[in-house]
Amino acid sequence: MTKSSTLSTGHYLWVATLWFLCLRLESVTAYSAGAPTSACPSMNPDHGSSSNNPSPFESLLNQTEMLSNESLKLTMQSVTTEKTFRGFLIMGFDAVTDLVIGTFQIDLSQDQSQTLKCFNTYDTAATHRSSSKKTSVIVEWTPPMDFDGSVIFKTTFVESKSTYYKQVSKEVKIKRSDTAISSTTGPALTTEEPETPNVYEGCGTSKGCAATPSGCIGLRNCLMINTYKKLDDDNIQLEIYGQITGDEYVAVAFSTDRKMGEDSVVECVNNRNTVMAYQSYNTPEKINSRIQSQSPGFNLTLTAFIDGFIYCKVQHPIRYTLNNIAFDLNQPYYLLMASGPTGDFNIQQHTTDESSSLALTVTNALCIQYFTEPSRVLKQLHGSFMVIAWLMAASTGLLMPRYMKKTWVGKQFMKKDLWFVYHRGLMVLAWTLTVAGFIIIFVDVGGWVSESVSENPHPLIGCITTVLAFIQPFMALMRPGPNAPNRYIFNWAHMLVGYSAHILAITCIFLAVEMEEAELPYETYWILTAHICCYVGAHIILTVKIRIFIFETLYLATRKNENSDDVKQKEGPRKDDQGSSIRKTILGAYVCVAIGLGITVVVFIAAA
Ligand SMILES: *[C@@H]1O[C@H](CO)[C@@H](O)[C@H](O)[C@H]1NC(C)=O
Ligand SMILES: *[C@@H]1O[C@H](CO)[C@@H](O)[C@H](O)[C@H]1NC(C)=O
Ligand SMILES: *[C@@H]1O[C@H](CO)[C@@H](O)[C@H](O)[C@H]1NC(C)=O
Repeated sequence: MTKSSTLSTGHYLWVATLWFLCLRLESVTAYSAGAPTSACPSMNPDHGSSSNNPSPFESLLNQTEMLSNESLKLTMQSVTTEKTFRGFLIMGFDAVTDLVIGTFQIDLSQDQSQTLKCFNTYDTAATHRSSSKKTSVIVEWTPPMDFDGSVIFKTTFVESKSTYYKQVSKEVKIKRSDTAISSTTGPALTTEEPETPNVYEGCGTSKGCAATPSGCIGLRNCLMINTYKKLDDDNIQLEIYGQITGDEYVAVAFSTDRKMGEDSVVECVNNRNTVMAYQSYNTPEKINSRIQSQSPGFNLTLTAFIDGFIYCKVQHPIRYTLNNIAFDLNQPYYLLMASGPTGDFNIQQHTTDESSSLALTVTNALCIQYFTEPSRVLKQLHGSFMVIAWLMAASTGLLMPRYMKKTWVGKQFMKKDLWFVYHRGLMVLAWTLTVAGFIIIFVDVGGWVSESVSENPHPLIGCITTVLAFIQPFMALMRPGPNAPNRYIFNWAHMLVGYSAHILAITCIFLAVEMEEAELPYETYWILTAHICCYVGAHIILTVKIRIFIFETLYLATRKNENSDDVKQKEGPRKDDQGSSIRKTILGAYVCVAIGLGITVVVFIAAA
């Protein structure tokens, strides 16, 4: 094995990793299928620049006065016929408050445009469907049912990758229609109840309440609250109330353990200005599926959406069967509460997640309870172990056999060269932390969670990494002697497996930042990128033995000391190769940076 072939293999792998990471970023920013929701606040595409010329495209309204129960036709077209545009993004704004209002209606057969969920609300924007050249596109828009005021439309027209234009339409005056007031929110409403439901009334006296954050019931400022009250032998009444933005849900689950999976769920959902409650089921794989025909006795009594808070009151059976699992609410269950974005057919993964500290029997508990956040200690340990193992120990340990073999041979420890002692020590540390971190995360999430690999490749890549890392020490124990003829096979295998594990591990840590559960700040990406740059930099500097002036001088300046060392160390049969001091200095600097960056990530994990 020549040094240069080792070098190129390692570097190719790194280049491949960087490519992989770049491609992931690239895929997020390719807009040929319409603007992404990340473009909603600025309405800018992330490519090209805004042209200062007057827009050659405009959005025309088919009327400038309308009632709030009517709809408006908008035509996006070029002012001069010969120009075409490839993409667009349009939204309606309240002319006074500049807030985004109203919704677009585009049927699915339309192949030029589609609606977009901006600011967490469905259909608030319209965008292109493909990047084909367009001369005109027609969309329809309706104001909020009870709106009274003026609206303008802002449109971004993308002419090419390098140029886009921003245009503001004429104003349309909207008068509230008389029909708006009587027919506000969704179906299944009974009007006997007061307009503003008081969910706090009777907590702890006539009904049981579970809420978050701690102490919020007395102050009446809960972010989420669930109440329960027995109506008769067959039914209880449930109330769900919580703060949401746009098309989101608040849900409560009855669970036999504190974790999601095999639970009965009641979801209170805001979807396109309609609040509804549904019964659903969490599969053991933690996927929520809405029950097609609700259990007998499940009746929605009242819904409301007031000042950013959603409210549902339902009558709920006590004994029922979901997905062939029998539930009996006379038995104790843990209560779990969560909120997150609404999907079209089921609720999406939650963004908040709370579980009650006790299992309780909702049919006879008149108590007040506060949800406590599930402990994150195990996840934090997993993350910290992996960061210390791979960013700190393994990355340093990997540099040793490649560059320090001729550096630390002057000194020995227990008959082994020092470079080997360090390499083995660091790798044993990395191995131990990896195996421990692997076991910890499996204990924490309760086994393998089947998630689609394309959505979250972290678990799969993590497992491959751990397997590769795991076999390393056993391979090393069985290595042939240093001068055995087949030693090179071991050298190659050991190196390839080691480098692959390291690259996969770093990729895995990158992927972890994307995971919601990790709750890591975006800055973590920069720290990790800095780490990769330093690591690759250390390789390059150590490889390219730059014998340029500065290094030569440094070397000469340190040579005297080395010579005096050699005199003292009489029995040392071998000498350190020349340039050892420089290599030690570079390695020392790398170790400092790796420790600094690693500790920063561990602090991020601990603070998350
Ligand atoms: C404008 O378009 C809407 C939606 O297509 C339609 O209902 C309305 O009658 C049109 N108004 C005029 C003045 O044509
Ligand atoms: C809108 O409301 C007005 C009353 O304000 C009513 O006359 C009209 O028929 C309504 N139009 C639609 C399309 O419902
Ligand atoms: C549920 O609501 C329907 C319609 O409002 C009603 O006919 C039915 O009796 C209700 N079920 C129960 C168990 O109250």
